Amino acid sequence: MGKGRCARRYSCLSWMPTFETQMSPMAPYHIRQYQDSDHKTVVDLFTKGMEEYIPHTFHHMLLLPRTLLLLLGVPLAVVLMSGSWLLAVVCVFFLLLLLRLLARQPWKEYVEKCLQTDMADITKSYLNTHGACFWVAESGGQVVGTVGGLPVKDPPLGKKQLQLFHLSVSSQHRRQGIAKALVRTVLQFARDQGYSDIVLDTSTLRPGAVTLYSSMGFQRTGQYFLSVFWRLAGICFIQLNYSFPSA
Ligand SMILES: CC(C)(COP(=O)(O)OP(=O)(O)OC[C@H]1O[C@@H](n2cnc3c(N)ncnc32)[C@H](O)[C@@H]1OP(=O)(O)O)[C@@H](O)C(=O)NCCC(=O)NCCS
Repeated sequence: MGKGRCARRYSCLSWMPTFETQMSPMAPYHIRQYQDSDHKTVVDLFTKGMEEYIPHTFHHMLLLPRTLLLLLGVPLAVVLMSGSWLLAVVCVFFLLLLLRLLARQPWKEYVEKCLQTDMADITKSYLNTHGACFWVAESGGQVVGTVGGLPVKDPPLGKKQLQLFHLSVSSQHRRQGIAKALVRTVLQFARDQGYSDIVLDTSTLRPGAVTLYSSMGFQRTGQYFLSVFWRLAGICFIQLNYSFPSA
């Protein structure tokens, strides 16, 4: 307990005096530090935000030339071999089902992994960690947005980097500038804490997120496939960086 409090003093709470409250004339909201009582809502927002990628992944995979070839070729082979169109239709149905399961699996695994690691105890992972923090956007007494930042363990020589995680806004509160306000809060925190850069990874599946970061000054520094699955699915992750001008 004592250790936790101490660590907390040097991370988020030490930054609290300059904590920024932002209001929007469209739908009033404010950004505040995460509290333990937010856990369930934060987990829900994060899970729903990630699950939104499942249909996008499915559609993306469906339109790949190799998938279309498979969806045409396999039933055709079935008709030629069995002479049954019904079997061919059943075959297409099962292929689509398999594709949907494949699209779902990696996102479910990612959510599962986060819920067992940094999101299991957000206070411990973010608020009690030196140079880290987690914020929520609150509107009408409800948590409607989240974002976190953790220091990068092995940054390049001469750099002090903060990694941005779990930016998510409830679907009912989008396009009101809440994500932008959350990212601005991370930028302010990082500047105050003496970070040289903010880094993050995101997927090309959601151009909206990439537009958001680009409009705020983040620049693309690289891209990669997370695994063979993502390579086959043609979905890459991009690395973005926001550099503070050196003094
Ligand atoms: C991406 C996300 C966080 C944006 O939240 P938001 O509160 O709606 O974003 P903002 O209102 O602050 O949008 C700021 C800018 O981002 C861009 N943007 C946001 N959503 C967009 C969309 N769906 N399509 C195109 N551009 C979009 C726009 O440029 C927007 O400015 P504008 O509204 O003046 O045109 C939200 O859609 C979300 O939670 N998605 C699911 C989880 C996710 O993808 N998180 C990002 C992980 S890296």
